[in-house]
Amino acid sequence: MASESNAKSIFEKSRKGQRAYSLPKSDSEFDRFQPASDLLRKTEIPLPEVSELDLMRHFSSLAKKTIGIDTHFYPLGSCTMKYNPRVNEQVASMPGFSKCHPLAPDETVQGNLEVADNLIRGLCELSGMTAGTLAPNAGAQGELTGVLMIRAYHRKRGDFHRTEMLIPDNAHGTNPATAAMAGFKIVSLKTDSQGNLDPDHLQEAISERTAGLMMTNPNTLGLFDVNIAKASALLHKHGALLYYDGANLNAIMNIVKPGEMGFDVMHLNLHKTFSTPHGGGGPGSAPVLCNEKLAPFLPVPRIVYKDGKYTTSSDFPDSIGRISTFQGNFAVCVRAYMYYLLHGNYGLRSVSEAAVLNANYLKKKISAIVTIPFPRFCMHEFVISTEKYLADGIKAYDIAKRILDYGCHSPTVYFPLIVKECMLIEPTETESKEMLDEFAGILENIVGEIKSDPDILRGAPHTLSVARLDEARAVKCPIFRHSAANENPSIQGEFYE
Ligand SMILES: Cc1ncc(COP(=O)(O)O)c(C=O)c1O
Repeated sequence: MASESNAKSIFEKSRKGQRAYSLPKSDSEFDRFQPASDLLRKTEIPLPEVSELDLMRHFSSLAKKTIGIDTHFYPLGSCTMKYNPRVNEQVASMPGFSKCHPLAPDETVQGNLEVADNLIRGLCELSGMTAGTLAPNAGAQGELTGVLMIRAYHRKRGDFHRTEMLIPDNAHGTNPATAAMAGFKIVSLKTDSQGNLDPDHLQEAISERTAGLMMTNPNTLGLFDVNIAKASALLHKHGALLYYDGANLNAIMNIVKPGEMGFDVMHLNLHKTFSTPHGGGGPGSAPVLCNEKLAPFLPVPRIVYKDGKYTTSSDFPDSIGRISTFQGNFAVCVRAYMYYLLHGNYGLRSVSEAAVLNANYLKKKISAIVTIPFPRFCMHEFVISTEKYLADGIKAYDIAKRILDYGCHSPTVYFPLIVKECMLIEPTETESKEMLDEFAGILENIVGEIKSDPDILRGAPHTLSVARLDEARAVKCPIFRHSAANENPSIQGEFYE
């Protein structure tokens, strides 16, 4: 049983004068210098004061409350929460990588530049592209890089009238957002009854104003768009380019390449396909890869290998310029490179095959209790609809919250937007058959509860420290101050005003 003391926050445990650690008195010359008096604090820093043991318990109990891939099954569709192998961490923490200064001269970091260059080359081989950059620090930033390159390509040719970007209605929200940031007008394309891009609507939407099409394949319904070759031929015939949102490459590695499908430029979310850590929004990394046509527009600085030496160069006059600092999130790239080397091309193919097998197995297992809106063979993820339980007063959201009580993270809810009361389930390749069976059993139990005790779903979760948050308010007006900070005079101060 949790003791009362463990339930208290660190602010409530704070007692004036308690210390977890005290620094020895300094005898350094430096400490004799005093900053100007107007720069000195007027009040004490309002930090909680606790013993080392209380501090330890505080962080350990916070860690226990976390729901993460290391503790829970996490089938969060579209987000690909797969296991992060520890060997990646060990390699990334080697001093040659972790202590390397970003401003170190090229000749002193040849090994690191080689790793970055090898990763770009490996990713090009995997995706059927010819050149790339590691600079972007998130999928959305990768998309922005790619669409800016498309814009630069058209402008270079004098095609200033190409102002429209075609985007399927099931796309991830970052696709229209980044295209709009780059100044494009968004033209939304319909999905047909099979879950593919509607070919008739595509034909109608293309015009001399079309700059390109942004899409992912498999799409966000977890379905492979079988018309992609025809669609890309049509776009190219009209002088437009294709952007591949590579967030879903983890379903097709070494089975089919985006370059072979006709895509011209793409990004990869390293955490999804290459098992790098991801949570709370980072640390992100999204290499951008492109074909010969778009290579001159890649961001700078680029890595150049010549006469047995690596250098970084900004001497590319058609480049879109800098997109982030240095060579991107290098520590994340090292982890991805490790994963790439460990698996090799054959291994990566079996990663994708296992992801697809797991998704199809789980889909079949639960198809009797939920609606499968697109019953064809799925790729690494699939959509279900729980619309039929609205008649019992239960929404997809209630089911998702109840799943938490059974010790699993919930799947993604209400995305993609085109399916009512939907959940997007992505088990990933790292889960065992036993875990998938257990999750199917949990969903069966919950469906039983809808009939026997629906209130238990409406009030869920019952086992976590917080239940139903106002998610919009939590994002728009977050309150980071603990209420005890207001009450405890020893931790009052300007920091909280
Ligand atoms: C299909 C798809 N595209 C783009 C993104 C955006 O990636 P990021 O969150 O790294 O910006 C995601 C993220 O989940 C995604 O699933």
